[in-house]
Amino acid sequence: MLINKLPFLKKKSSEEIRTLKPDNIPEHVAIIMDGNGRWAKKRGLPRFAGHKEGMDNVKKVVKTANKHGLKVLTLYAFSTENWKRPKPEVDYLMKLPMDFLSTYLPELIEENVQIQTIGEFDLLPDHTKKAIQEAKDKTVKNNGLILNIALNYGSRYELVQSIKKTVTDIQNGKYSVEEIDENVISDNLYTSHLKDPDLLIRTSGEIRLSNFLLWQSAYTEFWFTDALWPDFSEALFEQALLDYQNRKRRFGGI
Ligand code: IPE
Ligand code: IPE
Ligand code: MG
Repeated sequence: MLINKLPFLKKKSSEEIRTLKPDNIPEHVAIIMDGNGRWAKKRGLPRFAGHKEGMDNVKKVVKTANKHGLKVLTLYAFSTENWKRPKPEVDYLMKLPMDFLSTYLPELIEENVQIQTIGEFDLLPDHTKKAIQEAKDKTVKNNGLILNIALNYGSRYELVQSIKKTVTDIQNGKYSVEEIDENVISDNLYTSHLKDPDLLIRTSGEIRLSNFLLWQSAYTEFWFTDALWPDFSEALFEQALLDYQNRKRRFGGI
């Protein structure tokens, strides 16, 4: 390995490499949970089975996020484009929050997790809204990890809504065109109350954003893995956190 041939470069001990520094944990991690369908296909199972397995993996990932003291974990669960899928699959995906919460809500409450969502909530089916609203209400006082589910979320739609809101505010005399700045746009996004993601992870080998957090990820660190979402393990999550700690974030500076 090249590093061994350069004696002036001190090789880090494996312990140094493996240990996460508690003072540099990303506050906000966003994950594009992709590959459920392919996970199922590889096993000769219907796509639903992959979604079910993927749902169970969320619990493990929340545990790891909690263990390392993350403040916000945003999970991309359903995009505004996912309505294009066959109706039985969409119906199944819209049932998953209910299944997830009926299994895990007590544990999430115990772990001091607060449930939030981003996306067009009102356009979700009633049963989906009901389950999630109940979880939000029951965790509203929790002050641990924010588990932020992106459901019926699309970044372009979000930006269009933000622009409409801004125009309406101007028409209502709240501020002038000259006063529009980045904060005005950010304040009208679903994520207005959240810090931009420090780290964005996508599983399944796809290297794209698929309409996720376009504005918010201007200076986010990206991390990709070929692992399919149901196979995304604690060890991989920790690898992503470690790699994050080795990045130099310059934000345009030097
Ligand atoms: C991610 O897995 C879950 C959702 C998008 C809802 P996919 O269902 O996209 O799985 P692949 O990409 O087809 O394998
Ligand atoms: C992105 O995955 C959306 C979610 C994970 C919820 P997709 O599977 O929908 O993305 P594309 O279609 O491959 O870009
Ligand atoms: Mg996919």
